[in-house]
Amino acid sequence: MSSQVFQPTSPAFLKNPYPFYKKLRETAPIFFYEGWQGWVLTSYEDVNFLLRDKRLGRVMHHLLENPPVLSGLEAEFDKSRLGSLLEIEPPDHTRIKDVFHQTFTPKRVRELGEKVDGLCHRLVDALLEKPSREADLIEDFAQTIPVTVIADLLGVPESDRKYLVPWSKGIIGWFEPERSHEMELEAVRCANEFIAYLADLIPKKRKIPGQDLMSAMIQIHDQEPERLSEQELINNCILLLNAGHEAVVNVIGNGMYALLRDPAQWEALKQDESLIPTAIEEMMRIDTPLQFFERFVLEPISYKGFDWSQGTKLCLYYASANHDPAMFKDPETFDIRRNPNPHIAFGLGLHYCIGAPLARVELQTALKVLAQRLPTLELSQANLSYHPKNVFRYLTALPVRY
Ligand code: HEM
Repeated sequence: MSSQVFQPTSPAFLKNPYPFYKKLRETAPIFFYEGWQGWVLTSYEDVNFLLRDKRLGRVMHHLLENPPVLSGLEAEFDKSRLGSLLEIEPPDHTRIKDVFHQTFTPKRVRELGEKVDGLCHRLVDALLEKPSREADLIEDFAQTIPVTVIADLLGVPESDRKYLVPWSKGIIGWFEPERSHEMELEAVRCANEFIAYLADLIPKKRKIPGQDLMSAMIQIHDQEPERLSEQELINNCILLLNAGHEAVVNVIGNGMYALLRDPAQWEALKQDESLIPTAIEEMMRIDTPLQFFERFVLEPISYKGFDWSQGTKLCLYYASANHDPAMFKDPETFDIRRNPNPHIAFGLGLHYCIGAPLARVELQTALKVLAQRLPTLELSQANLSYHPKNVFRYLTALPVRY
């Protein structure tokens, strides 16, 4: 039954997975999916509990006496993941997270946030100059916001910023369970180019340090290399771009699609800006941009009658948890006033998103500027299509007029 419901490659599932999640929560909230050789979990209770459980980790190579030797593209791509915060567990995770705490400070986030307002206004100025008064809100607005913020954060010179979005788009293809050989080749090409670029930038920044996070990390590496190797420095900058870019674009895309399909709520938001903080949380909940992440069992676990040995893979569906009626009243209803809204779009536990405060500033500012400056904004097409992906959920375009 569960394998009939869960067909992650079927066009119907990829178009709208939420009815399938509902059925799974009702009939088989925990089941083994042969296709991915892992357990699929869809209820809020399970995802919430297991994300906090230290017997699970994102990776388990640190526990193995003889970790598998990777070859070919796997080995190539792995070079861009070694030491990245998302690919390590304690004690390494604690050590690198400490470097982030020292460099990715609330002050730095505040300073970046102050620039987002001007950036959003400039993007809307350009939209208003278009005689057609039609645009793709993703390409012409959302896309530029987080990449500019991350480039400022890292201190990437203006002239090189054009490379960042294509690199990020190429690299994230690797994280799809149903990736093709072409996607792997593209991910490896982009990762290698990005590594080479950063390796070249480091000595320049060492010579002339800026006020940016990368200069601060270089200083830590130079003074205390045992806290942060050069490879860890490079791979965590790559992580910041990938983690910090796609999800923000996709919350604006998926979330504005939900909001503009509901003109009464769009109207209410324009009339009352105090609704913006709850609105962006609901945008993240209603169509969660990162649908699921995997965890591996580090120590044997018995959970609800299931016995999982070390190495067992769990696929935890954050997007389904965010639609669980056991936690959210009328979960399929988009409600910009929903409060409380304990969604888990930013994850939970050890790997909880460290960019959440920055993401919230970007999303709130983007929504505020759209509401103030484009009051006649509306969809110019119904029934939009999504990229056929399982982890990253995002629209192919968001055509609007204003
Ligand atoms: C709305 C936007 C965002 C969403 C929905 C989001 C979501 C997530 C999620 C779900 C995780 C945890 C992954 C897991 O559980 O396996 C995560 C981790 C992470 N995110 Fe975000 N993120 C967003 C924005 C950002 C931004 C703006 C940055 C940085 C500039 C960022 C940096 C990170 C990093 C470094 C991690 C790894 C944390 C760790 O492993 O300890 N994210 N994010």
